[in-house]
Amino acid sequence: MRLTGNNLKIIVNDIHVSYNDEGPEKAPVIILIHGFPLNKSMWDNQLKSLKDNYRVIAYDIRGHGNTGIGAIDFTIDLFVKDLLGFMDALMIDKTIICGLSMGGYIALNAIENYSTRFTALILSDTNCTADSPEAIEKRMNTIESIKENGVDKLADDLIPNLFAPESFKTNSEEIVAVKEMIVTTSKQSLYNSLHALANRKETCSKLAEIKVPVLILVGEEDNITPVEASKAMHEKIDIALLSIISEAGHLSNLENPEEFNSQLHKFLNALK
Ligand code: MLT
Repeated sequence: MRLTGNNLKIIVNDIHVSYNDEGPEKAPVIILIHGFPLNKSMWDNQLKSLKDNYRVIAYDIRGHGNTGIGAIDFTIDLFVKDLLGFMDALMIDKTIICGLSMGGYIALNAIENYSTRFTALILSDTNCTADSPEAIEKRMNTIESIKENGVDKLADDLIPNLFAPESFKTNSEEIVAVKEMIVTTSKQSLYNSLHALANRKETCSKLAEIKVPVLILVGEEDNITPVEASKAMHEKIDIALLSIISEAGHLSNLENPEEFNSQLHKFLNALK
């Protein structure tokens, strides 16, 4: 029997996964995957906006939010294994998948390896490249800095890059919520996830094989996965739409939910 509501729990692989599941039983399913080091609550606005017409599921990735940490080594492959295990546990054969940043890395890896399980792909503020040596070094320095200076310092370092400058005037509630998400992620999970991000493989060379419709969304002021990265993915995918979200940085769904949701609805309506 399907359970609906917030903070539901289900066993997947070696962990309990925490998730929200709303919307009509028989409607098309959309699974939302959050970024690093955030949690499923970053999708609350999209869940509310979509739940009348879709079965919308947002879950906490291993080690984030209320999901267990389990295995010590995290990899994007392990996150994908969790996603597929989660779909199996909920008896979801096929779904539309939407991932922001690290969620996008997971969605791209999942579609590359399990293409038959996905009917459409939404990539938000993400990219298909692997980390450069400099980026890997930065992630290792971040681990050292968390050990020395703690998670508040991490939040203070990350937040200026996650949001567009305008958002510091208009989205103060979202900034407070994101800080809370960062500081409540365990240090062990931060270390593990930074290793997973640093070791991830590129997916750019597989983009041409994607045969489902794709929507690419990106904040016009995204400093982490800039507009150029989205344009490069757009060029390589057969059936892809690109939409640049105004007045938004890396967290475009939180910074400009009106425009983000309107693009989502337009794309999803066209799939019917
Ligand atoms: C994210 O938002 O998930 C991270 O910024 C991804 C990354 O650091 O590559």
